Amino acid sequence: MKAIIITGGAGFIGSHVVRLFVKKYPQYKIINLDALTYAGNLENLRDIEQEPNYFFEKADILDKDALERIFVLHAPDGVIHLAAESHVDRSILSPLDFVYTNVIGTVNLLNKAKHFWKDNFEGKKFYHVSTDEVYGALGETGFFTEDTKYDPHSPYSASKASSDHFVRAYQDTYGLPVVISNCSNNYGPNHFPEKLIPLFINNIINKKPLPVYGDGLYTRDWLYVKDHAAAIDLVFHTGKTGDTYNIGGFNEWKNIDLVKLLCKQMDEKLGNEAGTSEQLITYIKDRPGHDRRYAIDASKINKELSWKPSVTFEEGLKLTIDWYFENQEWLKNVTSGEYQRYYEEQYSKGN
Ligand code: NAD
Ligand code: TYD
Repeated sequence: MKAIIITGGAGFIGSHVVRLFVKKYPQYKIINLDALTYAGNLENLRDIEQEPNYFFEKADILDKDALERIFVLHAPDGVIHLAAESHVDRSILSPLDFVYTNVIGTVNLLNKAKHFWKDNFEGKKFYHVSTDEVYGALGETGFFTEDTKYDPHSPYSASKASSDHFVRAYQDTYGLPVVISNCSNNYGPNHFPEKLIPLFINNIINKKPLPVYGDGLYTRDWLYVKDHAAAIDLVFHTGKTGDTYNIGGFNEWKNIDLVKLLCKQMDEKLGNEAGTSEQLITYIKDRPGHDRRYAIDASKINKELSWKPSVTFEEGLKLTIDWYFENQEWLKNVTSGEYQRYYEEQYSKGN
């Protein structure tokens, strides 16, 4: 039996990866290692928590003793590392949190894997899940390929870039078998409502303003979260050790166009007159260091591993909206308490 530690498994993407692996590989032992920060939520995994091959370990990747205990207990053959501080706006408010978890936490985990495997790496793999934001910003044209030079601008992307460098350094220096993927913006069920799409769904439900940063002409390449989870499965099992894979949706949207499509679909769902939700759009002060455009060239993973997205953006967005309507309790729970304090700090200071 193979044992795989998935870090950050209670978060947005991690929970979809954990579910996919638990269901698809009953012969694997899947260990979800998560500190349960504000972004981690075991409600995301209620449907699979009783499965015999699922294990949960509440632990911080900064905690060496906890990692030692968990590695000894479960004897993992693989690590899929998603645990991170993941929101750009929070990284602008508190950059050090991103250095601790994303940089030091990742190095801690690399050390633990290296020592636990005693430098005998046969059949072992350390998979680091990263972001396209490490590549910086594009102009009107062009795409990020696996060879694009790193040029991060936010504390978040700088911390992810740093962790990517450490992962590659462990391969080059110690021969640790690693693989890295850099993915574009995800959306879908269980997305924490600090990010654009779920925040705007929640605000439309509550008839609150939709805060569009700057001129709204910033571009992102959106991918449905279950398509990212499927890509992670492929890269983990069939990706070439030492390689990098870019993952993207072939799906670029300017923020304002995306927001208008979301408003249209939400009006249909709510039975509103067309144009109702658009009236909530409010342009506010821009995000500092805001990257103008991200776009992934995903042809390597498409050609080498035969991966491509399974849903169109319109379909994925509809599935997402349906999920939030069916899970309003989830939304209410995650937007109480700390969320209100963050929202106040982020959106009411001179915006
Ligand atoms: P998320 O913020 O929803 O979840 C992060 C999870 O990590 C949470 O469950 C949290 O409790 C856990 N965590 C945070 N700090 C921890 C620590 N010190 N120790 C243990 N657990 C900790 O994030 P997400 O959006 O699911 O992103 C997952 C990964 O994918 C991240 O590494 C992120 O950089 C990367 N990524 C995200 C996107 C995106 O669009 N969301 C795109 C590309 C790559
Ligand atoms: P976000 O979901 O935070 O992802 P990222 O910054 O990692 O790409 O933001 C997506 C885009 O939406 C980005 O250009 C910033 C913009 N945005 C807003 O205009 N208003 C908001 O309230 C938020 C959260 C994001």
